[in-house]
Amino acid sequence: MYVCHCFGVTEDQVRGHVADGACTPRQIASACKAGTDCGSCVRRIQALLGRGACPRRELIDRGRPALTSDPVLDEAA
Ligand code: FES
Repeated sequence: MYVCHCFGVTEDQVRGHVADGACTPRQIASACKAGTDCGSCVRRIQALLGRGACPRRELIDRGRPALTSDPVLDEAA
């Protein structure tokens, strides 16, 4: 079933990107462009992303910033 009609992206494709580590609609968009035209599919993409395991989101939920590229800052967080 199609999630994004503008780019012909299916639920299975989105799930595949999630399995590859995508945690946000923006990361899905980077992988396959879904959500970057009319935007009407973003809520469905968010629903597919759900609240599953996402290391960066877990850090944000706990009040910590997402990982930075600076190991010193990461250690201090
Ligand atoms: S349906 Fe996905 S951007 Fe339009």
